[in-house]
Amino acid sequence: MPKVVSIHSYRGGTGKSNFTANLATTVAADGYRVGVFDTDVPSPGIHNLFCLEPEQVSTTLNHYLWGEAPIEKAAYDVGG
Ligand SMILES: Nc1ncnc2c1ncn2[C@@H]1O[C@H](COP(=O)(O)OP(=O)(O)O)[C@@H](O)[C@H]1O
Ligand SMILES: [Mg+2]
Repeated sequence: MPKVVSIHSYRGGTGKSNFTANLATTVAADGYRVGVFDTDVPSPGIHNLFCLEPEQVSTTLNHYLWGEAPIEKAAYDVGG
């Protein structure tokens, strides 16, 4: 059964993205499959922490929410 961990703060710049990336990487290193959803819709940035260049990220969560793409198109494999 998948587990969902939600990370939130009312303020920007409090370390949510960095904490999320580190937590996801730590759990993945333990052998679990991990999916990260960046739900910072106005200012997503977690792709930077996984070294995804903007030109690699042609479809995003916003495209899915706008009904322009299936969710699978907004997922990127960053496994090493
Ligand atoms: N544990 C930490 N120690 C020092 N600086 C941090 C730490 N976590 C994040 N930062 C820095 O704080 C800034 C905001 O972090 P970020 O994860 O983008 O916050 P948020 O996603 O909440 O906006 C970035 O410049 C990041 O490098
Ligand atoms: Mg952030």
